Amino acid sequence: MAHTVRDFLAASPLPRLESQLLWRQVLGVSRAWLIAHDTDALDPAHAAAYQALEARRQAGEPMAYILGQREFWGRDFQVTPDVLIPRPDTEVLVECGLQAIAGLQAPRVLDLGTGSGIVAVSIALDRPDARVRATDCSAEALAVAEMNARALGATLLFSLGNWYDTQLDSGRYDLIVSNPPYIDSQDTHLVQGDLRFEPQGALTDGADGLSALRCIVQGASDHLRPGGALCVEHGWDQAAAVRGLFQSSGFPDAASLRDLADIERVTWGRLPA
Ligand SMILES: C[S@@+](CC[C@H](N)C(=O)[O-])C[C@H]1O[C@@H](n2cnc3c(N)ncnc32)[C@H](O)[C@@H]1O
Repeated sequence: MAHTVRDFLAASPLPRLESQLLWRQVLGVSRAWLIAHDTDALDPAHAAAYQALEARRQAGEPMAYILGQREFWGRDFQVTPDVLIPRPDTEVLVECGLQAIAGLQAPRVLDLGTGSGIVAVSIALDRPDARVRATDCSAEALAVAEMNARALGATLLFSLGNWYDTQLDSGRYDLIVSNPPYIDSQDTHLVQGDLRFEPQGALTDGADGLSALRCIVQGASDHLRPGGALCVEHGWDQAAAVRGLFQSSGFPDAASLRDLADIERVTWGRLPA
């Protein structure tokens, strides 16, 4: 029978790293503490708490939801099942957005579909002079984004609504960023792996995967100043279609950027100045 962390690690069906992370969550300790104390006798309440988390993980629940957080752009963000789990691919979107406003003072930024707030908060913290508005159609997601902004010390404006049909700022934006739902509703991945646990409205547009992107790209010129930039994340096979949307929506020089897996993941462009 398991009586110590070391016993539990040896018996766990989970990868060792996951099991250690769950123990750190239960005991509220660092990795170094856990290693140094892995033969201490365990409190039965802690053993029971660990077993409950291990059962959730074995049932397939993503680690990010069990731990309640995920690292993104060098910071820890809180996540709940109301928001998409932050993906490393989305760092390309943040990089693209930051580069697009690099030469501007006090840029005005709009993040459409902010979810946990990772994009808006990262931009606001890296550019404290920026005025950043974050929107979502999910009140629950906006509450998570607000919690992250508060915890990380970012000042943002928030609004609830359907893409551009929400409270926006007077005047036009220098940058619009968005990582909208872009998975085709027929894609079988939606009912597999981590995606089973994530909000469907954050993953799929309920249509061909391009409808949210169409709405965002086609509406952008009404909300950007001349020379303003639009950066959107999209699926691995959507870059050509999204560049086409940009070109037919007033962005003559749209280009796509690759993620760490060398997949065209983000498309961006500027309105003519
Ligand atoms: C793919 S998630 C991205 C979340 C976050 N920006 C990120 O990168 O992790 C898409 C987000 O768009 C929001 N969303 C979906 N449809 C929307 C709509 N019609 N208007 C505004 N937001 C929407 C979802 O609630 C979700 O939070």
